[in-house]
Amino acid sequence: MRILRQTIPAGRTGRRSIAGRAPRARAVLPRSGPAACPSRARWFTLARSPANDLTMSDTPTRHILLGVTGGIAAYKAAELTRQLVRQTATVNVVMTDAATRFLTPHTMQALSGHPVYTDMWDPRVSNGMSHIELSRDADLIVVAPASADFLAKLANGHADDLLSTLCLARDCPLLVAPAMNRQMWEHPATQRNVATLRDDGVLVLGPDSGSQACGETGMGRMTEPDALCEQILGWFEPKVLRDTNVVVTAGPTFERIDAVRGLTNLSSGRMGYAIARAARDAGANVVLVSGPTMLAPPPGVRLVPVTSAQDMLEAVERALADCHIFISVAAVADYTPLHPQDQKIKKDARVLAVELAPTPDILANVASRANPPFCVGFAAESERLDEYAEAKRKRKHLPLLAANLAQKAIGAESSEIVLFDDEGRHPLPEATKTVQARRLVQHIARLYTAGR
Ligand code: C5P
Repeated sequence: MRILRQTIPAGRTGRRSIAGRAPRARAVLPRSGPAACPSRARWFTLARSPANDLTMSDTPTRHILLGVTGGIAAYKAAELTRQLVRQTATVNVVMTDAATRFLTPHTMQALSGHPVYTDMWDPRVSNGMSHIELSRDADLIVVAPASADFLAKLANGHADDLLSTLCLARDCPLLVAPAMNRQMWEHPATQRNVATLRDDGVLVLGPDSGSQACGETGMGRMTEPDALCEQILGWFEPKVLRDTNVVVTAGPTFERIDAVRGLTNLSSGRMGYAIARAARDAGANVVLVSGPTMLAPPPGVRLVPVTSAQDMLEAVERALADCHIFISVAAVADYTPLHPQDQKIKKDARVLAVELAPTPDILANVASRANPPFCVGFAAESERLDEYAEAKRKRKHLPLLAANLAQKAIGAESSEIVLFDDEGRHPLPEATKTVQARRLVQHIARLYTAGR
């Protein structure tokens, strides 16, 4: 058994519980405050960055034990740690011997703000039971990357190093993100091991397909840290929409004037994408019908890209067949050019008049069907929010409408929303769009379940 490689004394990160953090019921920060401890002070700064402000979040801190095994993809564990910490998780890292050849414990200590463990006989663990103690307060163990060898160990219940022993002795769920060469992944032995792990209740995320470090292309790439982070944190969300089919529209539409020009608006699509994610995390099957945005497709959501209001209407109609909840977040253009030109309109000195026709109102159309899904509308107003929002809800026959002030919401990271339903108004105080999306989904789930 090798001697501990990690050389930074635990005292530098504060004398706390064995895993380097306070017991769950207490505040996450050490009693002496962030200034007393450089690494935790840094963690505090990261976690309070505007997009992830803890004070604007309802999400409790998640305690994650991150196991890193040996493979080129180990470098992605550094970014994963950074992202998890930014999203209010505490991360305690355990590395296998092979992992330390690819990534140093110092890097992981700096990013997690906690001591890193690599050895069964670590003297910092007071009763010498590191294989039990380190996972005691963890809500979840994540092994990323999980090598072929480590999956084989897990599937067969081996316990010959700290990480495999921790996984065997745990009482919390285990999630693995495999990463290996294409042939190793496809090998029947690996597939057998993965099937065994799934049968044992282990969550397997990925791998993805793509180019590999060995120069080959195929299945075996570790899921990218942002997608992994999203799925890990989403896993914790209560599954209030399990087995529900949800259709969300998002983003602007683009109405063609000629071959190169069009009418659009400033919608970024962020709110709609956040709602699609929140619904997915709540257990729903989500179809996201999106106008043109710069956003990455949310993993685990079926994205239907569209351009114009008419395209969006047609895509929504196709997706409605077995839809339970329709959330209309898109900033659909109100008008479209009556005679779009196939060729570019040439410039001259005369005034150009473009005739505009009203677009179909997708939400009103869906809500007025004989047997409509539970319909949720959005309203961005520049004044008299309550009055206009309630009038819109009544006019479109909606059980629920989310309203906000356009000047505060468009392009912003956070928003302040008021929900209107048959019971009245429900203000959602300012928070990030991710947090607002979760609150909205919980409200929808309550009304939808009550009305079923
Ligand atoms: O009437 P107004 O455009 O303000 O209504 C906003 C709500 O209606 C949003 O939920 C939006 O997605 C939806 N809408 C629509 N089709 C349109 C216009 C708006 O679905 N053509």
